[in-house]
Amino acid sequence: MENKPRIGILTGGGDCPGLNAAIRAVTKTAMRQGYEVIGINHGWRGFRDNEYEVLDGIKTSGILDKGGTILGTSRLNPFYAEDGPQRILDEFNRLGLTALVVLGGEGTLSATNQMHQIGLPVIGIPKTIDNDVKGTNFTIGFQTAVQIATDALDRLRSHAESHHRIMLLEVMGRHAGWIATYAGMANGADAILIPEIPLDAEKIEALCRMLLARNEKGISFSIVVVAEGTKVDGQTIEKPVYDRSRDDSAHILGGVADRIGEIIAERTGLETRVSTLGYMQRGGTPVAYDRSLATAYGVKAVELINDRKFGEMTALRGNKITSVPLRMVANRVKTVDLNIYRMAELFFG
Ligand code: F6P
Repeated sequence: MENKPRIGILTGGGDCPGLNAAIRAVTKTAMRQGYEVIGINHGWRGFRDNEYEVLDGIKTSGILDKGGTILGTSRLNPFYAEDGPQRILDEFNRLGLTALVVLGGEGTLSATNQMHQIGLPVIGIPKTIDNDVKGTNFTIGFQTAVQIATDALDRLRSHAESHHRIMLLEVMGRHAGWIATYAGMANGADAILIPEIPLDAEKIEALCRMLLARNEKGISFSIVVVAEGTKVDGQTIEKPVYDRSRDDSAHILGGVADRIGEIIAERTGLETRVSTLGYMQRGGTPVAYDRSLATAYGVKAVELINDRKFGEMTALRGNKITSVPLRMVANRVKTVDLNIYRMAELFFG
């Protein structure tokens, strides 16, 4: 029997809605073109622990709208382990793979670029709810997270109105405030706080004045969206870490909205409450946009493999599905377009 060329696929870093749509698209497209597809389980860890599975039409049917990743994921960075990169190269060859498709955020894609530099034929697909990957307008998962955050803000608004409260919602966004900006804009939030605009004493003062002014005008509630990576007096706020044993690059932020909420309550004397959206943003059904984007990225990834354009990442630029070199993406963060932020800002207060 003729041996089929084999493609490997893995999902690394934090999960997000739309990963399965991309896995399905890569698998079904590749199989139609005569490839066999091998899923590597739990991100790069699968190579270390020999955890693989053959993906086929049955395994990838009915998963388009399913949250999470059927392959499992981890934040393991192969370059943190002494023989990590070599082990991957060896396993790649032992499995007889032609190429590896890696779905990752900034961290995973940086490691993917390093693996490419030492000879691994890779294609990256950008995914993270944070949307902070360079070279592409949107990452898989972002639009779903924005929808979830917007729904939460809409609910908090009716609550805030009833109780005459200031409500703060903390959303994810370690290095960039994309979710906060888009969801805040969609909700008509009164303030959006993001890592790109650190909070100093003057800005906190202005925020409190604005909230008081709303109250004095007779508007007895306000909505403030806070990205978790927002710096207060130059510092990001971390959560206590319960378990660092499994993931060697876990980075858990959280608590900045509580800190800001306390300051607001104390300075304004207005009733203030804080909600944190947390991992709900990363779970569940992807919105239609993420399913389509993931599908298009999956098809493009197979095209790049056929063209032997390794070391590239699928990307949306303008309204075109294209690709950019991973080296342009690695170790960089796409921060919020401040033109968009300024538009949202027009509706503050
Ligand atoms: O995937 C990105 C992200 O959601 C960040 O916004 C957040 O800080 C981080 O993941 C936390 O994820 P984990 O607890 O899985 O490391």
